[in-house]
Amino acid sequence: MNLISCSILNINFLEIKRILAKLYSHKIPLLHFDVMDGNFVDNLSFGAGVLKSIVSYKYKFVYDVHLMVSDPAKLVDDFIQAGASIITFHVESYDFDKIKIFSLIKHIKEKGIKVGLSIKPKTDISCLVDYLPYIDLVLIMSVEPGYGGQKFIESSLLKIKKLKDYIKEKNYPIYISVDGGVTSENSKAIREAGADILVSGSYLLNNIRKGSKM
Ligand code: DX5
Ligand code: ZN
Repeated sequence: MNLISCSILNINFLEIKRILAKLYSHKIPLLHFDVMDGNFVDNLSFGAGVLKSIVSYKYKFVYDVHLMVSDPAKLVDDFIQAGASIITFHVESYDFDKIKIFSLIKHIKEKGIKVGLSIKPKTDISCLVDYLPYIDLVLIMSVEPGYGGQKFIESSLLKIKKLKDYIKEKNYPIYISVDGGVTSENSKAIREAGADILVSGSYLLNNIRKGSKM
């Protein structure tokens, strides 16, 4: 499985229509939408209204929403309303409170939307184990969440492999997505470690801006 999800965190909104058309013509299947609240991560990005306007362009992307926010439950319905296909929130949300995390997973699934859990570089995959039978995707952060353009953290490869082996052993139908610092230099190793989806922002957008092959 080799899927690409383009993060539009660092997009220049004056060029959005051209970029979306290019991504679509290059058959990039997923659009990765980084939502930051300035609290869970230092940075602040955009809300459901921006997703709604992008969805209104009618490109058939899978809208892959990544919530880096302290209270994801507060925002989930707005993003579902706006057109999210997948909603991923952090296992570190609510200070790892299992009851709140399980209830949000249940809520998202009841709405018929795919649900993912994301894990920061320093969090061990053991924190995910209880949720794996109930989710569709794990988003492994290969940079500290908050900004695009960072360098891939090499130790993520071992984490991806460990998670892939566990998921295969349990036969869970879960996609592994890897997010942060992904380029053509490391994409082969990331896929070989077990990633199904590669999220790329700066690398992909810079190539589109240069008009070069992706
Ligand atoms: C970081 C975001 C990532 C980031 C990816 O917190 O979750 O999606 O925008 O951008 P690059 O590919 O530039 O690291
Ligand atoms: Zn992201």
